[in-house]
Amino acid sequence: MSEELLKVKDLHAGIDGKEILRGVNLTIRPGEVHAIMGPNGSGKSTFSGVLAGDPRFTVTSGSAFLGDTDLLALSPEDRSHEGLFLSFQYPVEIPGVTMVNFMRAAVNAKRKYLGEAPMSAADFLKLMRQKRAVVELDNKLASRSVNEGFSGGEKKRNEIFQMAVLEPKLSILDETDSGLDIDALRIVAGGVNRLRNQNNATIVITHYQRLLDYIKPDFVHILYKGRIVHSGGPELALELEEKGYDWIKQEVDGE
Ligand SMILES: Nc1ncnc2c1ncn2[C@@H]1O[C@H](COP(=O)(O)OP(=O)(O)O)[C@@H](O)[C@H]1O
Ligand SMILES: [Mg+2]
Repeated sequence: MSEELLKVKDLHAGIDGKEILRGVNLTIRPGEVHAIMGPNGSGKSTFSGVLAGDPRFTVTSGSAFLGDTDLLALSPEDRSHEGLFLSFQYPVEIPGVTMVNFMRAAVNAKRKYLGEAPMSAADFLKLMRQKRAVVELDNKLASRSVNEGFSGGEKKRNEIFQMAVLEPKLSILDETDSGLDIDALRIVAGGVNRLRNQNNATIVITHYQRLLDYIKPDFVHILYKGRIVHSGGPELALELEEKGYDWIKQEVDGE
């Protein structure tokens, strides 16, 4: 078994022939939280999309392993079944499908992939109750259509709820903080923190330091122009907050 939970090596990817990721290297061990920061357009969402298998992007070289599993060889669904979870910057609405039914389908699809029998209705309801508590999600929200008419904060909370139910090995939160007020931010961060354990890991993608007051990263990376140009501890995020991104641009671009 691999010691690493995620190992990304010299990953190059792009869209319509335009290269966006230009050699990303990243290693994550179980139990760790990594923050990826960087100016707009630096490739943060592309990186998460490529790991999740978003078909818009083409991987041109490099590798990405989740434990011993070659992520790039799998469909997006199978990546999810293997334990990858991506929280989107803009969650989709699915009218006519209740959260409960959506989650039951997701849970049972994963169980089928793993060769397990579907969960009984009683066990599933118990699981829902237990996980709702993690994100302080009330029952009414769970019986509504997926994200339909949800506020920004409700959508995000709902996503953390999905994460809680699916118990992923690696969760990627892409700008989960954008558009959240401070109360919603606290609830979302509280959920993420409660789900942390020694067997899973989280990548928190954020433009601002604010979320990292609530979700403490072990490592902070700066992605710029498709490469990780700096890595450090939590102090790197504070340094960015203070100095902005200009020094990174100057250092890399030599301007
Ligand atoms: N669907 C797309 N079509 C064309 N270019 C794209 C598309 N998505 C992203 N890009 C380009 O890729 C680069 C990185 O974007 P993105 O990964 O969204 O950055 P970030 O999340 O760091 O703001 C940007 O230059 C952006 O314009
Ligand atoms: Mg983005």
